[in-house]
Amino acid sequence: MATDRQATARAHSNIAFIKYWGNVDDDLRLPANPSISMNLDALYTETTVTWDDSLSADMLRLNDQPESGGALERVSRHLDIVRQRLNISASARVASRNNFPMGAGIASSASAFAALTLAAVTAGGATLSERELTTLARRGSGSASRSIPAGFVQWEAGIDHETSYAHSVAAPEHWDLTDIVAIVSADHKAVGSTHGHTSAGTSDLQAGRLRGASARLEAVRQAIASRDFRAFAETVEHDSNLMHAVMMTSRPPLFYWHPASLTLMGAVRQWRAEGLDVCYTLDAGPNVHCICTTAHAPEVRRRLEALDIAAEGMIDILQAGVGGGAQVLD
Ligand code: DP6
Repeated sequence: MATDRQATARAHSNIAFIKYWGNVDDDLRLPANPSISMNLDALYTETTVTWDDSLSADMLRLNDQPESGGALERVSRHLDIVRQRLNISASARVASRNNFPMGAGIASSASAFAALTLAAVTAGGATLSERELTTLARRGSGSASRSIPAGFVQWEAGIDHETSYAHSVAAPEHWDLTDIVAIVSADHKAVGSTHGHTSAGTSDLQAGRLRGASARLEAVRQAIASRDFRAFAETVEHDSNLMHAVMMTSRPPLFYWHPASLTLMGAVRQWRAEGLDVCYTLDAGPNVHCICTTAHAPEVRRRLEALDIAAEGMIDILQAGVGGGAQVLD
């Protein structure tokens, strides 16, 4: 039946508190360390997948624009994995839309591959466990595994495809946190995460980062469980610094921070010393995610807007609370 062959899913972006950087298996996206994140309620992707026997190849529309080349290839490779799992031979029409500005420098692969996975599986008429959906989403983009479950999510490194899965460690309402993202640059990053993961092992510091990763994850998990912001903040900032130290010391080196990133990191530490519940974390880009308690969010935002760093390039501010899991839309 035609209606069984189409489905739409929504998945939220997420921000990692303990970072995923480097794989032990790039093809399977088996990460070198476990990671933990929270979903971002205000930033999401909605994707419609239609399996269509009359198509000769997969088609992709991204924010209403037809896509070919690299973006289509990556989506098509991911659809191959779903085709194999569900025993589907048809090609698919994929229409995907982000509700956040594409040019804002916010990574969309997590929400994109989580939504694509859930929509493709549902359109294929299958109902898979959440755990299996996280492993399938992981094959498209590692961080996408963490955008399937709700709230605060841990991705186990695992030792093979089945054991490298993500699960919720706390519901969205467990802890009222807000991510205020200071957008420093809208430029497309020169070196994306997928390439970055392959070079992580060229840094002498990666072994040291990995050695402490499980202990840091446990510290963050416990800080979330007990809503201990001070303990949370110290470990989250330290883990972000460690990942960027690995990036900067990889060969060739990857420098994601801009001068404005450093200005903002210093300001956030100062504000915390003055009593605000706020800490920073940065992904593979210069934007500074200011994680704070929602109670302190208005003051953090006020101080961000008062900073005179426009000349250095703070161009926008996005804000999100803790988000739910990926869901099928009617
Ligand atoms: C720095 O999940 O984007 O954001 O698996 O190649 O798609 P691919 O990489 P991706 O890497 C995310 C890296 C990070 C840290 C994190 O989100 O854990």
